[in-house]
Amino acid sequence: MSEHPPKSPREPGEDPVRPHVFDGISEYDKRLPNWWLATLYGSIIFSVFYWMVTQQFRRINDGDQVTAAVQEIRAAKLASSGSYDDSSLLEMSRTASVLASGAATYQTTCVSCHGPELQGGIGANLVDATWLHGNKPTEILRVLNEGVLTKGMPAWGPVLGPKKTAEVVAFVLSKQPAS
Ligand code: HEC
Repeated sequence: MSEHPPKSPREPGEDPVRPHVFDGISEYDKRLPNWWLATLYGSIIFSVFYWMVTQQFRRINDGDQVTAAVQEIRAAKLASSGSYDDSSLLEMSRTASVLASGAATYQTTCVSCHGPELQGGIGANLVDATWLHGNKPTEILRVLNEGVLTKGMPAWGPVLGPKKTAEVVAFVLSKQPAS
């Protein structure tokens, strides 16, 4: 059998051996290294914080993020499709990226006549219940495209192009008070 005589369980200065033996194998009872313990306790503490932040406070949810991302992609496709109807314009009016771009166009192009709160001025009020040319999304789009030249509303379609025009319509729609 073994040429080495079995060691005594403990020699001076040596780590103790655990009392159990399995298949003739015994193991030292070594203290776990500090770096290892730090990793263990650190990850336990981190897991509590992570759980609280993601599940309790912000409720980050993969499903919601995917839905939002799909919504952005759909709206971006709609915005550049060049053909708009009431439902696609309404969908664009619920999409952050479209609204950001529509708001930027509004600030540079419309604010001088329709005011920073869309309350009107030289131009008509765009957030009241009275619409001179209809409040359906496609009717607003038509006013933008064709203008009301005799009343001082320029035709923006040719200036802005179809995508920016539709985006600014989406922005106006997003500002409508809930009815
Ligand atoms: C030079 C001033 C001026 C600018 C700039 C202007 N508008 Fe107008 N807008 C008007 C006037 C004036 C009217 C009212 C037309 C009328 O009396 O029929 C109007 C009407 C409208 C209407 C119809 C409102 C209704 O009650 O039916 C919409 C929508 C509109 N503007 C959106 C915009 C948007 C969006 C922009 C920026 C792309 C813009 N306008 C830029 C002057 C302007």
